Amino acid sequence: MTTARRIIVALDFDTVDDAEAIVDRLGDAGQSYKVGLELLTVAGPAFVARLVGGGKDVFLDLKLFEIPTSVAGAVRAAGRLGATMVTVHAMGGSTVMEAAVRAAADFPKLHVIALTVVTSLTDADLAAIGLSATIEEQVTRLARLAQHSGCHGVVASPQDAALLRAELGPDMLIVTPGVMLQAEMSTGAATEHARPAPPAAAIRAGATHIVIGRSLTRAPDPAAVLAHLGDELG
Ligand code: C5P
Repeated sequence: MTTARRIIVALDFDTVDDAEAIVDRLGDAGQSYKVGLELLTVAGPAFVARLVGGGKDVFLDLKLFEIPTSVAGAVRAAGRLGATMVTVHAMGGSTVMEAAVRAAADFPKLHVIALTVVTSLTDADLAAIGLSATIEEQVTRLARLAQHSGCHGVVASPQDAALLRAELGPDMLIVTPGVMLQAEMSTGAATEHARPAPPAAAIRAGATHIVIGRSLTRAPDPAAVLAHLGDELG
């Protein structure tokens, strides 16, 4: 897999024009994009189909948490659109994840990626929703469950990547949002990520993909940020 395909640019925009402007500015250098619920809702599947038609990998971040039949239906819809990744909440349990994996089997390009614990949460947040586990315990438990359910990968904070690589062995994909550029970390820029790390550290720790949003898409020169990242990770 090329370095460019490992860098997934999160198109967190509320208009198609803004999303398309970034895709145009990145040109051939941008190979992988994440489309989440906000953009999918405003832009619809046609936007995703255009990305796929342009040769891009599309990570459809649907964060599915539903009954197995509904999850399977949504996964098939993602497969028909040509997505390469779709997310399902591991908290939904093994029956839901197994249904997602079975639905994806008809689409060889499509990977089911399980979400463990969103990177903005802390141990105190878990306690508040009635979970006595620490973040680390919960991430590990859900990642193991995802692997046993046949998922192709997990989403995890860069801080958890090394632990998960050791737990899951070499084959699982590990997709890490919550990265901050080295320059932002050294200036102490504000972040909503509870456990950020620079992209290169995430890859060294065992991540196969990084997801980068605002640090790139809101930068004055997004193409320069992507080029810099490519050099750093390559
Ligand atoms: O912060 P950034 O703009 O790089 O976020 C990119 C993606 O990372 C978002 O689309 C979101 O899905 C994910 N994210 C996350 N946890 C957060 C913030 C963002 O998983 N606390």
